[in-house]
Formats: sequence, structure tokens, C-alpha cells
Amino acid sequence: IIHCVTSLRQVRNGWRDARESVALVPTMGNLHAGHLALVRQARHQADRVVVSIFVNPLQFDRPEDLAAYPRTLAEDCELLAQEGVDLVFAPGDEELYRRPRSEITRVEVAGLSDLLEGAHRPGHFAGVATVVCKLFNLVQPDLAIFGEKDFQQLMLIRRMVDDLDIPVEVLSGATVREPDGLALSSRNAYLDAAQRERAPGLYQVLCELAGQVTSGARDYDLLEAKAMKGLEIRGFEPDYVAVRRSADLLPPGAQDSQLVVLAAAWLGRARLIDNLTMDVQ
Ligand code: PAJ
Repeated sequence: IIHCVTSLRQVRNGWRDARESVALVPTMGNLHAGHLALVRQARHQADRVVVSIFVNPLQFDRPEDLAAYPRTLAEDCELLAQEGVDLVFAPGDEELYRRPRSEITRVEVAGLSDLLEGAHRPGHFAGVATVVCKLFNLVQPDLAIFGEKDFQQLMLIRRMVDDLDIPVEVLSGATVREPDGLALSSRNAYLDAAQRERAPGLYQVLCELAGQVTSGARDYDLLEAKAMKGLEIRGFEPDYVAVRRSADLLPPGAQDSQLVVLAAAWLGRARLIDNLTMDVQ
């Protein structure tokens, strides 16, 4: 477990000298089976696996969310030791951000940062892109793995890597779900028992919409509106439900066949997001 940048660079240089490949799994900790699936995937892809644990203040648009975010470093490290991870990089805030917030250089992924999640969480994706860019520069991994659960985030990282010619291969891991369909998330801990029972409704609504698209429905505006209603009936306060092209998250045209439906909805004080890709032929 390394907290400082200098030690990280030393370990990294040793691995380079030994010609060992390195995979990075960036996380904010409070690890669950979704994170661990990415770690296992990383194990199979590289000689060395680094997991970063950093609750990135730059990507939180609400101070109360940052303050409440669960921090469980000791338990996380235990889980990662069991998975045979080589290194946990867990820097403090000052280690990564050495300037006042207003003076921090940021990575802005044009367009993608402002859609969907970005529209509801101002500054969020600049915070994500900036910290992931920094982690790539620090760890210098050959490859990095991100979850499809955060579909827009995955696209944003891919776009950043392409636009800035960052020599990192970006891989993705499928969304890990509870048996009732709820996508695993650290924020599920904010749900009380009654909300937890309702929570799989988000996935159900996405499955229903995807089923209708697969059976030929093409009026996406209508499908989105019906899904919003369905979420409200199930006790959610939805931020959005959107059918988009999976390549660039823009609204689909008649020719587009690779689609994704993305949604974000509040359930009590938990804001849940989920998505489902669809192949319409
Ligand atoms: P965090 O929410 O901790 O997620 C870390 C990684 O785990 C992300 O790539 C996320 O997509 C993936 N993940 C989360 N839940 C998952 C699930 N149920 N199934 C599969 N993968 C899942 O995402 C972040 O942290 C941060 O934004 C970060 C990229 C670390 C930058 O700070």
C-alpha cells in the first residue's frame, strides 16, 4: 500500500526494468463484487495489477455527497490482498492536488462531458477525466479497466485517451448485479430496507424499454417518457431516461443499430444510475 507519488514511481520503474506489464483499476474504494470483477480481469491481462483508491473531490458536484462517501480503506486492502493485487495506490488529497481548487489544470472532454450525467452534475466529468489522466501519468499502466455500469464515464475515458494520444489500452468489464438486478454500487448503502426493495425497479424499467425496442418500437421519445413514468410509479424521482447511440451517446437516427438506454434516478438520498446496451437489427 503506497500513499505517496515518489514511492509509486520507484515501484513502477522497477517493473519497467523487469519488462513486466501493468494493469490499473481506478476506484474510489468501498469495494464490492463489481470492482473485484474488474480486478480479476486485470489479473488475467497483465503481470502486475495496481488498484488506485482515491475519493476524488474534483468530481463531486455536491459537498454532502463527498462528505458521506463511504471510506473503508482497511477492508478494501484486505479484499485486494485476497485477489493477489500487487499494489494499492491510496494517495491523500494533497498528494494529488497541490494547488487550490480554482487553479487546478483540468481535462475537459468536449461534448461528452455536457450530456446526460454531465448535464445533471456540472463539473463532474472534468473531475473524472482530470484524475484519470493523472493516474495514467503516475501509474503509466499498459492497460486500464473500467466498468460498463458507468457507461458515459467509460466513453469519456476512451475519448480522452484517443484525443490526447495517451498510450493506455482501455478495457471494460460487464456490470455486476445483485440477484434481483440492482447494479452493485457503493451508493446502494444509502438505501433503507423499503427503498432497497424498490431499487431493482430501475433495471426492470430499462429491461422493459429494451424489450420494446428489440420488438420493433422506434419512437424513442415516447419510450423514454413511458419509462420516466414507470420510474415515478415505482417511487423514483428520475433525472433522465435516454436512448442513445452507444458509439457517441448522441440521439439515434433510423440507421443506427448499436444503442444504449441510460438512466439516472433518485431513490431517497441515493442517486442510482444504470444502462443497458441494445443491438437492433
Ligand atoms: P468507482 O465508483 O469506485 O468505480 C470504480 C470502477 O468500478 C469504475 O470503472 C466503475 O464503472 C466500476 N464499477 C462500479 N460498479 C460496478 C458494477 N456494479 N459492475 C461493474 N463495474 C462497476 O468510477 C469511479 O469510481 C471514479 O469515477 C473513478 C473512475 C475511479 C475516477 O475517480
